[in-house]
Amino acid sequence: MAESIPRLRFDDAIDSITSALDGSGAVIVEGLLTSDVVSRFNSEIDEHLESAEHGRQLVNPLVGAFFGPQTRHITGVAAKSRVFAEEVLCNPLLLGVCDRILLPSCARYQLNIAHVLDRGPGSPQQFLHRDEVVWSHLPRPHPEVQVASVIALEEFSADNGATRVAPGSHRWPLERAAEIEELVAAEMSPGDAVVYLGSTIHGGGPNTTPDRRRRGMHMSYTLGWLRTEENHYLSTPPDVARTLPRQAQELLGYSAHDAIATGGGYLGTVDTRDPIELLESGEI
Ligand SMILES: [Fe+2]
Repeated sequence: MAESIPRLRFDDAIDSITSALDGSGAVIVEGLLTSDVVSRFNSEIDEHLESAEHGRQLVNPLVGAFFGPQTRHITGVAAKSRVFAEEVLCNPLLLGVCDRILLPSCARYQLNIAHVLDRGPGSPQQFLHRDEVVWSHLPRPHPEVQVASVIALEEFSADNGATRVAPGSHRWPLERAAEIEELVAAEMSPGDAVVYLGSTIHGGGPNTTPDRRRRGMHMSYTLGWLRTEENHYLSTPPDVARTLPRQAQELLGYSAHDAIATGGGYLGTVDTRDPIELLESGEI
């Protein structure tokens, strides 16, 4: 019998949320986004989803199979949605969790990837995985390198493909796979999110409904010194980034990673300067 996923609310203490996350590898946060934010965000991305191309060529054919042919997909969201850049990416609760889990292992953390996945009827159970496998060269054991989330942008139910999580799997040995009965569907209302660690096994559930889509945003943060899945400098180039709040610019990687104060070095400079200062002064 699978453990359940702990459920907390957006106004619970961040330490309670972090400790549930540490204990189970995943936590559902109810009300992470207000219904107003969800509604404005959905309005901004509707047109992009309508024109999302099926079957476009991706970095590797396996990636297309991973998402599945019934999935509409939007990337580079910070350049497409002001609501995302200001009110989702910079969500104080998620950043509070990142402060506690990621900041001990870096000088600053950053957005890894943020994309909208709108999974249609007939979508199969997604391949079960740990998100951190993208950094498979990283020796184990290692500290947590990723705080991930799937935010429900409409109702997530067991039959329309709610994300399924194996609670406790963040502590399993790498070779242990999850059995189907160890998975729990993260059933959520719009604006709720399942927050999980990069080491937690999960996957999109099967959408067995005849006619309901399941729209969600997968967003994750990682250490400031790891290569990110999405190349934000190109998908949100300087001309767009300069119009965003500074905190969003920082999370998109426009700040140098300066670890000199802790005996390290710096990463990501331009002309040996901090690019966020150059962005502000108009030099880039
Ligand atoms: Fe995933």
